[in-house]
Amino acid sequence: MQYAKNILETIGNTPLVKINKLTADLPCLVLSKYETFNPGNSVKDRMALQMIEDAEADGRLKPGGTIIEGTSGNTGMGLALAAIVKGYKCIFVISDKQSKEKMDILRAVGAEVVVCPTDVEPEDPRSYYSVSKRLGEETPNSWYVNQYDNPSNTKAHYQSTGPEIWKQTEGKITHFVVGVGTGGTISGVGKYLKEQNPDIKIWGIDTYGSVFKKYHETGIFDEKEIYPYVTEGIGEDILPENVNFDVIDGFTKVTDKDAAVYTQLLAKEEGMFLGNSAGAAIKGLLQLKEHFTKDDVVVVLFHDHGSRYVGKMFNDDWMRKMGYIE
Ligand SMILES: Cc1ncc(COP(=O)(O)O)c(C=O)c1O
Repeated sequence: MQYAKNILETIGNTPLVKINKLTADLPCLVLSKYETFNPGNSVKDRMALQMIEDAEADGRLKPGGTIIEGTSGNTGMGLALAAIVKGYKCIFVISDKQSKEKMDILRAVGAEVVVCPTDVEPEDPRSYYSVSKRLGEETPNSWYVNQYDNPSNTKAHYQSTGPEIWKQTEGKITHFVVGVGTGGTISGVGKYLKEQNPDIKIWGIDTYGSVFKKYHETGIFDEKEIYPYVTEGIGEDILPENVNFDVIDGFTKVTDKDAAVYTQLLAKEEGMFLGNSAGAAIKGLLQLKEHFTKDDVVVVLFHDHGSRYVGKMFNDDWMRKMGYIE
C-alpha cells in the first residue's frame, strides 16, 4: 500500500504547471510552481516544518511547548498542522489588514489568534513584531519562531523547493520570479539555482509601500518608501535576515490594483484559483517581458490559494469599492 504516515509527509513535490493565455505575448515558456498542492494550501508548509524540526533538534522547542509567531496566515497554517501532528500549542499574532478568512482558518486548526494594528511602527509595542516577541518572553515553555530572521526558513527552500524546480525543468530554467516577504523562498531557491547555474536570473516581486526594491538598487533603507498597501504576503517595512540580496538580480514593483486584477485573471483565464501574491507575481513577470527571449524557461512560484481571498480580491463589491474594477 502507498500512503503517507501523516499529513506532514505530503508536504512538497508540488507540480509545475504551464501558464498559457496570460503569457501568450511572451516569447518564452512560462511555468508555475504550484504550491497550493501542499496540505496547508501554501508554500509555507515547507519552511514551517523545517523551522519546527530544527528547533526540536537543538532544544529550542520542547515537548508540550507553545509555538508563538507573527504570521500573515500561511506560515501559521503550516505551523499549526505540524503542531497538531507533533503535540504543540500555537499562538499566532496577525495584523488587522489580513483577510478574515485567514484568521478563521487559523482558529479552525486549533490556534489562538491575536490581532494587532497594521499602521504602527515596527518598534511600537502594539505592532505585530513587538507583540509576538513579548508573548514569546511571557509564555512559559514557549518558542518564538521569527520566520523573518530564522535561517531554517531559507534552508527549507534551499533543500526542497529549489532542487524540485531544477529537477522538474531538467536544468533548463533560465529565470525564477517570486514575491518577496520574509525572503525565505527567493533566497533559498535562488541560492540553490545559482549554485547549479550562475546564469539563472532571480527576480523578486515587490509592492509599492515596501523597502526592498530601493534597498536592492541603492543600499539605502528609505523610510519614505514605507506606506500602507493592500497587497497581501509580499513587501516589508523591515529588512528580514532571510532576504539574501546577493542572490537577487532585480525587483519589480506591482501596484495593489494590478495585483488584485491579475489575481482574478489567473482564476478566469487559467483556472488557477490563487492568492493575491500570485496575481502580483504574474503581473510582475509580464512587466519583465523585455528580459525574456525565445528559448528561456521562466518559472514563477505561486504561494497560496484563492479561498483565503473570497472576501476581497474575489468579491466584486470589494473590488469596486477599492476602485479596481468598474
Ligand atoms: C501569500 C504569500 N505570498 C508571498 C509570501 C512571501 O514569501 P517569503 O516569505 O518566502 O518571501 C508569503 C509569505 O509571507 C505569503 O504568505
